Amino acid sequence: MAFRFPEGFLWGTATSAHQVEGNNTQSDFWFLEHFPGTAFAEPSGDACDHYHLYPDDIRLLARLGFNSYRFSLEWARIEPEPGRFSLAALDHYRRMLAACWENRLLPCLTFHHFTAPLWFTADGGWEDERAPDRFAKFCERAARHLGDLIGLACTINEANLNGSLAVRGTFPREGLKYRLKFMAEAARRCGTTLERFSPYLFGDPNRINEIMLKAHLKSREAVKSGPGRFPVGLTLSMDDYQALPGGEETRDRALAEDYGPFLEAARSDDFIGVQTYSRTRFGPQGPVGPEEGVEVLVMGYEFWPEALEATIRWAWQKAGVPIYVTENGIGTDDDRQRIAYVRRALKGLIRCLQDGVDVRGYYYWSFLDNFEWLFGYKPRFGLVAVDRQTQRRTVKPSGLWLGRIARLNAFDEEQ
Ligand code: BGC
Repeated sequence: MAFRFPEGFLWGTATSAHQVEGNNTQSDFWFLEHFPGTAFAEPSGDACDHYHLYPDDIRLLARLGFNSYRFSLEWARIEPEPGRFSLAALDHYRRMLAACWENRLLPCLTFHHFTAPLWFTADGGWEDERAPDRFAKFCERAARHLGDLIGLACTINEANLNGSLAVRGTFPREGLKYRLKFMAEAARRCGTTLERFSPYLFGDPNRINEIMLKAHLKSREAVKSGPGRFPVGLTLSMDDYQALPGGEETRDRALAEDYGPFLEAARSDDFIGVQTYSRTRFGPQGPVGPEEGVEVLVMGYEFWPEALEATIRWAWQKAGVPIYVTENGIGTDDDRQRIAYVRRALKGLIRCLQDGVDVRGYYYWSFLDNFEWLFGYKPRFGLVAVDRQTQRRTVKPSGLWLGRIARLNAFDEEQ
């Protein structure tokens, strides 16, 4: 028996500007990617040249059967110098939003997805008290230009991620920048100190978490101050935190520390964006590695699609607002494994719906094989492959498979 999703359920794919657009030269990450001794596996370069190819890309998404597209603004293009806004860049994003509507895709717009203008990062970045105001000013200006075309808005992508990576033991507690040699030199070349040089993902997680929360609240108002009426929320990076025998307390502490304040803040939002890829297991001393016998993916975490059900339920219990799965996916070269992953993740999502959880959409990460941050182009998350020499797109079987589910708004276990 096929399961029918609620009327109006959003089926989409997600991208972020820096990962697909190409040549984001005013941004902090571009600067770091090119720095001698960089920790990035390779520079983002032309990426998928989505900056120019978006009209065809958006048409392709619609043809595949999706009814929504989540993408992000690039702050560094819009405000390349403090207080100087580029109308040309804003108009570019207006055209992208319009292209979505023309193709009957509801545009879900993210205002911050990891990257920032280099001037911002070099002047305190996300560890500076002025960050919430600076970011809100950008959001206000962008929303004024774009608001009437926005369908759904995310203020900050994975506002908790700096903290999460520390809680999960992936990054050091004091901040990754203090462990990477090239960062001190990068800071120096920007005329600042390592303490004041704070790109997202690399800074001091404790400090950033606090500022992110403030930035979300301020930017939420800024985004709503423009034309258009649309739901606004933030998105969180959510692993399923599991306890091994004796690890219950440590796990509960991790849940409270990582998700607690953000889910609390989300109670007054229009929705919460849940973004899930895997699980983390906790023993009495803290996070423990992958379980023997469970496959470890190229990103270093386990193949664990059931994590999505657990995180949706946790977000629902704590925030109590509508949920969009704003990211879920797998980086793999084996497209059959991708289908197996999403099939199991969707089954979990359906169980949530059957229990009355208000889930309103599912965005697969990602539309295209794209720039996976420190890992470069090796992990392939896309439903669509990209030949980066010719920029030719090739739809993978998973793209056709998920597009069909989207078009039917129904899921059959046998599918
Ligand atoms: C981020 C994406 C990233 C994806 C896969 C999420 O944490 O929002 O930018 O590419 O995970 O690693």
